[in-house]
Amino acid sequence: MAAERPVLKIAGTNQVVQITDDNSRTLMHPETGVAFHSASGALAETRHVYLHNSGVQNKLENGGEAKVLEIGLGTGMGMLLTVNAAVIGQGRLEYHALESDWLCGEIVRELDLERHLSHPVVCERYLAWRDQFGTDPKPGSYVWRFSPEISATVHHHDARIFSFPEPIQFDAIYFDPFAPAVNPEFWTVEFLGSMKKLLIGGGHLVTYCVNRRVKDALLACGYEIRCLPGPVGGKREVMRATRPC
Ligand SMILES: C[S@@+](CC[C@H](N)C(=O)[O-])C[C@H]1O[C@@H](n2cnc3c(N)ncnc32)[C@H](O)[C@@H]1O
Repeated sequence: MAAERPVLKIAGTNQVVQITDDNSRTLMHPETGVAFHSASGALAETRHVYLHNSGVQNKLENGGEAKVLEIGLGTGMGMLLTVNAAVIGQGRLEYHALESDWLCGEIVRELDLERHLSHPVVCERYLAWRDQFGTDPKPGSYVWRFSPEISATVHHHDARIFSFPEPIQFDAIYFDPFAPAVNPEFWTVEFLGSMKKLLIGGGHLVTYCVNRRVKDALLACGYEIRCLPGPVGGKREVMRATRPC
């Protein structure tokens, strides 16, 4: 039986924080009760499945450049860790995240994300920027310029109908919608195929989900798939799907 993890209610809201096994925090969706990250470790999952398996962390920490798309900004953990990696290596980063329900600063502050960053200023600057737009910003694309070399754009839109106004391709896609049982519309041949067009040849779509139907959908789109070992203490396997060159 799965162990219960401690939870904290955020006062004055319907939001609940879960303390995951590596002592990092995640949120539980207020309507579905589904967590935004693995209970085995939100931080470990984000670092391993997204930053490590995509190769983005290695590139940025060694002064390289990367264009990254995230499906489901959620708490911002993936974005902040990626910006932090670019700061460490003085890399160049263009980050884009799609999110239909953009969390306000008060909620993100409860997750103590700056604890996980070697440059906590990344989180402080993100939250100060996010605060300008209030709790319920209008749909739109919001550009956060951390430095001349590092930017992150939050596309506050429904990812199912969003399209980029200009042609763009990414080195990596952090594919992090809720699981197929909750968000089936993201795990289809149609949607995964639209993601493939957004990758450069040799670019990777990385995700936590390795179920048979998702593998079949990725193969039907023409990705080369590889199941990689999951994070320590977490899922046995996770996915890296590559657009062939
Ligand atoms: C598993 S969470 C993402 C966690 C995130 N990567 C992080 O580091 O915290 C899934 C996210 O997808 C978002 N989402 C769900 N349906 C969406 C849609 N149709 N368009 C855009 N975002 C959506 C949810 O609001 C949620 O924030």
